[in-house]
Amino acid sequence: MNDIRGNLLLSGRTVVVAGATGGIGEGMTLTLLRQGATVVATGRSEERLAGLAAYAKDAGSGTLVTHAVDVGAPDSESVRARLSGYGALDGAVITIGDWGGPERTGILDTTTTEWQSMIASNLTSHFHALRALTPLLSRDGALVHLSGFSAEIPYPFSALVGATNAAKKSLVSSLTAELNGAGPRVYELIIGPIRTRPRAAIGADSPGWFSAEDLGRHAGRLIAGDSPHTAAPLQYLITRAHGVRTTPPE
Ligand SMILES: NC(=O)c1ccc[n+]([C@@H]2O[C@H](COP(=O)([O-])OP(=O)(O)OC[C@H]3O[C@@H](n4cnc5c(N)ncnc54)[C@H](OP(=O)(O)O)[C@@H]3O)[C@@H](O)[C@H]2O)c1
Repeated sequence: MNDIRGNLLLSGRTVVVAGATGGIGEGMTLTLLRQGATVVATGRSEERLAGLAAYAKDAGSGTLVTHAVDVGAPDSESVRARLSGYGALDGAVITIGDWGGPERTGILDTTTTEWQSMIASNLTSHFHALRALTPLLSRDGALVHLSGFSAEIPYPFSALVGATNAAKKSLVSSLTAELNGAGPRVYELIIGPIRTRPRAAIGADSPGWFSAEDLGRHAGRLIAGDSPHTAAPLQYLITRAHGVRTTPPE
């Protein structure tokens, strides 16, 4: 995507994508590369990062760097030290997360072990990622964090996913308030079902859903400060028909 002068929107800018090996992460990485960014794609597995590099090799004019690091690990200082060589970041996208297993369990049947495991993988990891990555951003940079729409609605038989999404949303909105406009900008995108390669492979797909590439384009424009939604810290991208909104759809 070009700006009004014909330059690629993100050329000369560096964006970390945390969780780049995931379905949403790989699609967002692809479009950020197409927008000209240097993308530092992080994940916990060298093998999955190599798979991402192969997938994204013809993506466009940006530069892909893969970096194996667990941004969800508790030692944020060491995560920061490992990523500090890229200089002050223009953008960071946090698309890590855990959907839980395929089985659906009611709250009353959920074990304490299952509870603790989901809190660790889908909430504590995000707290650590926010703590590690936010200080790496330049003052006019932008952090984009994703949470599912189950943050807003009852989510029967997947209540731990809903509860952690609601807590993530709260965490990010408090971070925005704590930064109080001093920068970097922080965006919480509340997303509906998203078209990704892994989901399509299991038959979960719909042309009415936003795609991971749509999210990447949107995030790129927010990072560049080139979006009509630049001033909105909380945004809802639930379906294409709803568009981008600042309040949840009815
Ligand atoms: N896809 C959708 O339709 C949809 C809808 C609503 C919300 N979401 C949310 O959006 C996020 C991404 O979705 P997705 O479909 O891309 O999921 P995904 O394909 O499972 O990818 C998630 C990625 O996050 C990383 N990750 C998982 N747990 C982590 C942890 N504890 N610490 C650090 N990294 C971790 C994994 O990378 P490595 O293992 O390689 O490090 C994985 O590749 C999830 O939080 C999901 O709940 C997705």
